Amino acid sequence: MSAESPLSSQDLNLTDPAFFASGDPHALWRRMREEDPVHWTETNYGRGYWSVTRLPDVRTVYTDPVLYSAQKSGATLPLTAAFADPARSPSIRLAIEGAMLASNDPPRHNKMRQVLHHRFLPNAVARMDPFVSQLATNLIGDLIQTGECDFVTDIAAKLPSTVIFEIMQLPREDWPMLFEMANMGSAPADADYGAAEALEARTHALRTIIAYVQDLAKKRRGGGGGGLITILSEAKIDGVPFTENEIGYNGFMFIAAGQETTRNSLTGGMLELIRRPAEMARLRDNRSLLTTLPDEFVRWISPVTHVLRTATADAELGGKTIREGDWVVLWNGSANRDTLAIAGADEFNIGRPPTPHVGFGAGDHFCLGALIARLQLRHIMRVFLDHVADIELTGPVRRVASHQFPGFKSMPVRVTPAASPPKLN
Ligand code: HEM
Repeated sequence: MSAESPLSSQDLNLTDPAFFASGDPHALWRRMREEDPVHWTETNYGRGYWSVTRLPDVRTVYTDPVLYSAQKSGATLPLTAAFADPARSPSIRLAIEGAMLASNDPPRHNKMRQVLHHRFLPNAVARMDPFVSQLATNLIGDLIQTGECDFVTDIAAKLPSTVIFEIMQLPREDWPMLFEMANMGSAPADADYGAAEALEARTHALRTIIAYVQDLAKKRRGGGGGGLITILSEAKIDGVPFTENEIGYNGFMFIAAGQETTRNSLTGGMLELIRRPAEMARLRDNRSLLTTLPDEFVRWISPVTHVLRTATADAELGGKTIREGDWVVLWNGSANRDTLAIAGADEFNIGRPPTPHVGFGAGDHFCLGALIARLQLRHIMRVFLDHVADIELTGPVRRVASHQFPGFKSMPVRVTPAASPPKLN
């Protein structure tokens, strides 16, 4: 498509998973921010939506969860009409029923969050510090042994999946199956993860993980153990125990949300550092940048590319009239590069002072796992800097076809170990 073509001729790209694997959403979003920041966007399944691309408008929607519901149509823009149809898609049906935290509205959302947040509060995350540090040491230790790896599968994927499986206290022998199902559930349209029939793939992944979580929760109920599975199995709101659907769907949420996002932030951030040796050298010279680095990785990559909200009343947004029932899509990936709201937003700067970026969302649904994600990014990069003198790509970087989590599936690298690293233990 030519750069002069009307914006609306490019609308369908935004519901095309392949576009996010091989196209350039940032060029499109830049045009949208400049030409029509709250843009009526067509899909090929007969239902349009508002694309919100500027940071202030995105924050306005995030912070009004009553006017902009996460529950009415779920929190993700459907890929096809079938994905939006509760009769055909169990994930949308359960979302609308409010079975999962991320697609709940107040006041129930706040109550559910209180029940599920314990493992993600600052004290609990601080207790995870030695575990995450050791895990990072082990992963980089393996890399040093072999000298080469696929950075995505061997490091960026293993780190967050091990952390969330540990937080949930899931049996180790089940990890490979859960890893595979989480990939399939998050990117069902990608041929390597899902299937040609994306809804079938999504439904299979969802049902498998939900059944698994429900079964394990039953076994753990009343038995102590303390993992997040035990918390799920004993959760109550206003004295009423979680339904089986609430246990299963929240389990699915943690297994999926804990993995793809951190994996993609880490791979994408590392790729930028490989491409920009001056930025890598700056980090090596100044380790205090490890404090600001995680949020810059997340802002730059925006692993949750968008979220969906549904207007519960007529409203005005960015000069447009939104009608009750309209879908409103917040393009985090665009808002985070809004140069009018964040100075130099189109530059990658690991020393960037804090910004109001929405890589972790904002408002009531602000990412529950933000602290644990930052901890992982900080530790893995610290151990990497200690032990690796140089890193280079040895093959093509392959991306995941997804309009929601368009991350990385492969990044082959070779490393040169540091001359005199601290002892790995
Ligand atoms: C760099 C990594 C991560 C990024 C970029 C990220 C991003 C996000 C975003 C954008 C939201 C808001 C969704 C919405 O408003 O609809 C969110 C919510 C959430 N995230 Fe994360 N996330 C990350 C890591 C994690 C981890 C490691 C976990 C758990 C182990 C997690 C668990 C959650 C949960 C449970 C919610 C829903 C919160 C609610 O609805 O109250 N996330 N995340």
